Amino acid sequence: MTSATEGAAATMGRVAGRIAIVTGAASGLGKADAMRLAEEGARLIVTDVNETDGRSVAEACGGEFIRQDVADEQSWAALIDHTVTNYGGLDILVNNAGVAPIANIETTTTDEWRAVMSIHVDGTFFGCRAAMAAMANSGGGSIINMSSIAGRVGLSGYLAYSAAKGAIAAMSRSIAVHCREQKNHVRCNTLQPGSISTPMVHAAVEASTGIKLMEQDDPEAMRVAMGIGEPIDVANMVLFLASDESKHINGTEIVIDNGDSVDYARR
Ligand SMILES: NC(=O)c1ccc[n+]([C@@H]2O[C@H](COP(=O)([O-])OP(=O)(O)OC[C@H]3O[C@@H](n4cnc5c(N)ncnc54)[C@H](O)[C@@H]3O)[C@@H](O)[C@H]2O)c1
Repeated sequence: MTSATEGAAATMGRVAGRIAIVTGAASGLGKADAMRLAEEGARLIVTDVNETDGRSVAEACGGEFIRQDVADEQSWAALIDHTVTNYGGLDILVNNAGVAPIANIETTTTDEWRAVMSIHVDGTFFGCRAAMAAMANSGGGSIINMSSIAGRVGLSGYLAYSAAKGAIAAMSRSIAVHCREQKNHVRCNTLQPGSISTPMVHAAVEASTGIKLMEQDDPEAMRVAMGIGEPIDVANMVLFLASDESKHINGTEIVIDNGDSVDYARR
């Protein structure tokens, strides 16, 4: 790309005019994803169960907030209908909403297991299925499903969460191959972040170490010392996968952890 066209692309934005839904966007990674996509020209529909924070994120990124529990199957048909009717199509779906209760194989209750599965696995399945026709009719699209390093390595304290995140990665591969077979120009990829500084990870750090990260004298220095990434580290990859820059990338899992999960010597 020449510098002249680079300049033009920057002016228009890397996802200019694209219609994007980000779930669980009231906080943490979803919020950062929505803001980054909006910065590069996307039109945002922000969903969450948290109405207050969801509305302020929508306002900040010039988008629309819709209250949605991703585990509610009916909510998906309504959301996609609303999007197609009011925006003319759907180009980007970030299935990000999630919870991460801490419990191992001996302490996970059946109710906890089912709640985690319904939000992560059912929610991602409902979202992908509901979006498929709308994206195909828009000439293609990009689905980005939020897995985790927990779906790849063994974390004893996150039994249901790990199972759900592994299922999301496997589901995404199947969806990617389906889209390839259909030649519908829809792509489906998965992100597997390690620890990133969000309310979810602050709670996990406090539970495992007693450290309240955000109450430290210098939270930023502590974050770096603990090897914890920033939401923008994930949001930049969401942007890349949402844009045509990644048009030949489909069915992959991208680990975002600064090498943490492959650092054998550290163990
Ligand atoms: N932060 C990390 O280190 C990390 C690492 C790997 C994966 N992830 C994944 O990234 C995603 C975002 O996590 P985060 O760290 O930003 O957490 P977070 O707690 O800051 O944000 C999660 C958001 O999801 C929303 N949510 C929860 N249940 C919902 C439901 N049923 N329907 C709709 N919205 C719901 C919450 O209200 C919240 O706004 C999750 O899927 C999480 O598992 C996070």
